[in-house]
Amino acid sequence: MEASSPTPSTPPAPFSTVIRTASHEQHTEAENSSFMSDLLGGRLGVAAYRRYTEQLWFVYRALEDASEALADDPVAGPFIRPELARTAQLERDLGHLGGPSWHTGLQPLPATAAYAARVTACAQDWPAGYVAHHYTRYLGDLSGGQIIRGTAEKTWGFARKGDGVRFYVFEDIANPAAFKREYRALLDALPVDDLEKQRVVDECKRAFGLNSAVFRELGEQFPLSA
Ligand code: HEM
Repeated sequence: MEASSPTPSTPPAPFSTVIRTASHEQHTEAENSSFMSDLLGGRLGVAAYRRYTEQLWFVYRALEDASEALADDPVAGPFIRPELARTAQLERDLGHLGGPSWHTGLQPLPATAAYAARVTACAQDWPAGYVAHHYTRYLGDLSGGQIIRGTAEKTWGFARKGDGVRFYVFEDIANPAAFKREYRALLDALPVDDLEKQRVVDECKRAFGLNSAVFRELGEQFPLSA
């Protein structure tokens, strides 16, 4: 009798694919939020763009204040790359948008404060959760961020890749496609078990939700589509 051949099983999808697929729906939601649609549709003034950039500053400060402490962490450490850091660029953009005292009296929207607090909590207690936040922001900035930059330059007249849109310009990343490939390879090699990976996916969805909440509050401040 012939030995039955084992049923070929489908290899599990790489983690970078799992996380992208799992957040796809929420990505579409964030992209199509009324604030983003109005902003990218050129229907809002530069004040809305400034307000949005201010919110990003709070979020990136939370992400990047943690860089040093996490640099040697076995899970989060490999993701922390100086060429991704955005705080200095945001500060330069904000100086351009708001003048030298852009920082005076600046407060985050409640949704932004909640988002930044969650990033900080992950950075302190749960490095794999921090990776979910890192992925959600930086890989997005390297991808769709480039669309936002082009629109901002056209709509509000910023110099190409100049002050106002430096946040979107990764000067030290010569080949974004190659960088993203390497980043995905790091995700695929994340040294955690399947259960933890599922929790990271859930945190990524939470990160998208936190972004959408910021867009909602910005939309309330600049209610064009309403
Ligand atoms: C209007 C706003 C947005 C546009 C136009 C946009 C557009 C894009 C595009 C074109 C890609 C590339 C897809 C690919 O490489 O297959 C991408 C990827 C991505 N975006 Fe967005 N996006 C926007 C908003 C956002 C927001 C708000 C977030 C989350 C904060 C986000 C997170 C991501 C992530 C994490 C990826 C990488 C997916 C992956 O390859 O794993 N995007 N986006």
